[in-house]
Amino acid sequence: MRILSGIQPSGTLHLGNYFGMMQPAIALQEKGEAFYFIADYHSMTSLFDAEQRRQNSLDVALDFLACGLDPKKSVFFKQSDVPEVTELAWLLTTLTPMAMLENCHSYKDKLARGLSPNHGIFAYPVLMAADILLYDSNLVPVGKDQKQHVEVTRDIAIKFNHTYGETFVIPKEQIREDTAVVPGLDGEKMSKSYGNALEIFGEEKPLRKKVMGIKMDSRTPEEPKPDANQNLAIQLLKLVAPAEVAADFENRLRAGGLGYGDLKKSLFENYWNHFAEARKKRAELAANLDYVNGVLKDGATKARALAQTVLKRARKASGLE
Ligand code: ADP
Ligand code: TRP
Repeated sequence: MRILSGIQPSGTLHLGNYFGMMQPAIALQEKGEAFYFIADYHSMTSLFDAEQRRQNSLDVALDFLACGLDPKKSVFFKQSDVPEVTELAWLLTTLTPMAMLENCHSYKDKLARGLSPNHGIFAYPVLMAADILLYDSNLVPVGKDQKQHVEVTRDIAIKFNHTYGETFVIPKEQIREDTAVVPGLDGEKMSKSYGNALEIFGEEKPLRKKVMGIKMDSRTPEEPKPDANQNLAIQLLKLVAPAEVAADFENRLRAGGLGYGDLKKSLFENYWNHFAEARKKRAELAANLDYVNGVLKDGATKARALAQTVLKRARKASGLE
């Protein structure tokens, strides 16, 4: 089974990225042949600072490796090191109905937020389809917001196979229900672009301040709270704390007698400790960038070899060769 996923170097990675995509992807590296990449071409749709892209790409590499991506088990590379993907995107784009892209939620959300879209933002799902199909991927671990893009990929692959003959493997998304949408500090989906994120790696003081600043309702500590499971701090605690610790806090909140300040303090401590080991590993990696760059280079060589065989298949099928 081939597993593939990507993450954009468009900002600092946060708990939504970690629990929605990175942790499931890292767990899957034991289950099959995993390909994970830094989607730097995709980041060009929203980030227009070259140096920032370079820095973010390195940060994503450090974050992913520190969190447990094992280059002995997974092929880890930068999307743009395999430029074949842009050629495949063209082959696919000619079979993609405009209406299918106009219907994509992520595109519609961007329009709704008043963004004046460039063609890249519109065509984004086609490049993503090329990412997935170029490696004969079976399974794509992603957060819920990417589900539709994998569905689009499937539709395009089926259309290509129908038009030019069996060429592509039909992929499927994998979404972990318990972490499908990690809420941010404001209760909305945590996102790099909404200013509501808790970073995986950051400075202790500002992160503590963010957690302690989470807005709660005005009920007194003594009051029982039958809706304790809806509480944002409880929801986040369930992700970062041992199950029995989170359950204990939830029960105490439900029963009454637990103050929000104490709850938030515990949330911060568990969040900070959850990533203690990864933080140490990240510092070691940051002091050894030759190793990190070597991993990406090696990954690109392996990925490119596979990409070239699949692209050739598509070129032949469609009469380019
Ligand atoms: P962002 O919304 O912060 O820009 P990306 O779109 O780069 O994040 O997402 C990278 C991966 O992380 C995707 O698989 C996405 O589904 C997942 N992801 C992002 N935010 C969340 C979240 N809040 N909850 C669950 N998964 C998420
Ligand atoms: N669009 C994805 C995101 O924003 C990133 C991505 C690009 C991706 N290509 C992919 C994810 C291929 C899975 C498979 O999160």
